[in-house]
Amino acid sequence: MRILITGGAGFIGSHLCDYFLARGDEVIAMDNFITGSPDNIAHLKDHPRFTFIRQDVTEYLRIEGYLDAVLHFASPASPVSYMAYPIQTLKVGALGTHKALGLARAKGARFLLASTSEVYGDPLVHPQREDYWGNVNPIGPRGVYDEAKRFAEAITLAYHRAHNVDTRIARIFNTYGPRNALDDGRVVPNLIGQALRGEPLTVHGDGSQTRSFCYVSDLVEGIARLLASNEVMPVNLGNPNEMTIRAFAEKINALTGNKAGIVYVPRPVDDPSRRCPDISKAKRILGWEPKVSLDEGLEKTIAYFARKIKRSVRQ
Ligand SMILES: NC(=O)c1ccc[n+]([C@@H]2O[C@H](COP(=O)([O-])OP(=O)(O)OC[C@H]3O[C@@H](n4cnc5c(N)ncnc54)[C@H](O)[C@@H]3O)[C@@H](O)[C@H]2O)c1
Repeated sequence: MRILITGGAGFIGSHLCDYFLARGDEVIAMDNFITGSPDNIAHLKDHPRFTFIRQDVTEYLRIEGYLDAVLHFASPASPVSYMAYPIQTLKVGALGTHKALGLARAKGARFLLASTSEVYGDPLVHPQREDYWGNVNPIGPRGVYDEAKRFAEAITLAYHRAHNVDTRIARIFNTYGPRNALDDGRVVPNLIGQALRGEPLTVHGDGSQTRSFCYVSDLVEGIARLLASNEVMPVNLGNPNEMTIRAFAEKINALTGNKAGIVYVPRPVDDPSRRCPDISKAKRILGWEPKVSLDEGLEKTIAYFARKIKRSVRQ
């Protein structure tokens, strides 16, 4: 296959590049580095089946030759980054998705949207199933991301219904692993970074809010299966193993041997209290469920961040 991955220099996008190249496909990654990094794809620079295009996906998209698939992953993805880039986040979710869908339509390519569990907002239903419509505050600080993704889902299905574009929608829940940006405020890199520096871990509120964490290789496998499936309606991809943030922070301290403990800071506005996917649909139609245990995934992620922090101290 010849695949375009927007956001290909980001955390998940770069793992998708690796996955499809390893499978024998040709990959074109497009990114403007607003939150991604050239480091994430540096190892692919000389790969014969890899091309990188530095471009903002909200602008006119032109790709020479055919495409079999367009995977639209470009978007700031953490609260810190989408609040730092609110307009860019709305633009990439709206205009960027429009442009990527237009390209898929022109090339007769399959289109896959990286949507998010944030479309459920601060959910009133647990765990979240795909038929739950969500509880989103459109005008809160997080609304820029949540509503951009809700619009992106709507326009994806509009292109499917009006123009027959072959579309897929992945509702991705918290994913972690190597190449997560250390400084973008996401809970996993944030806590691991603090633990590796021997600092106390900052936990929002009393830490009783829950999250569930999916290791990136599991997610990538789910994305590839969804792409290959016939399912047009959204599919949750995430790890249903729900835990409190306090328990998670204690685990990070234990795994890193950090003795500095935990400090509790105020919770951000509209921070969801519970987040846990119902993945029965993915199990049923994709035969997919996460395989990597939290301990195994954290071990790999901690090793990655330890190398990264050591390198930045040396520089
Ligand atoms: N990581 C998660 O837990 C998670 C959860 C739900 C959904 N997602 C979605 O998955 C996708 C990838 O997320 P990630 O965690 O890899 O984040 P990331 O920030 O590491 O990657 C996003 C990439 O998109 C690029 N980008 C942003 N706007 C762009 C634009 N206008 N033009 C070109 N490139 C642009 C960024 O530079 C970055 O490389 C996002 O769409 C995100 O919403 C991620």
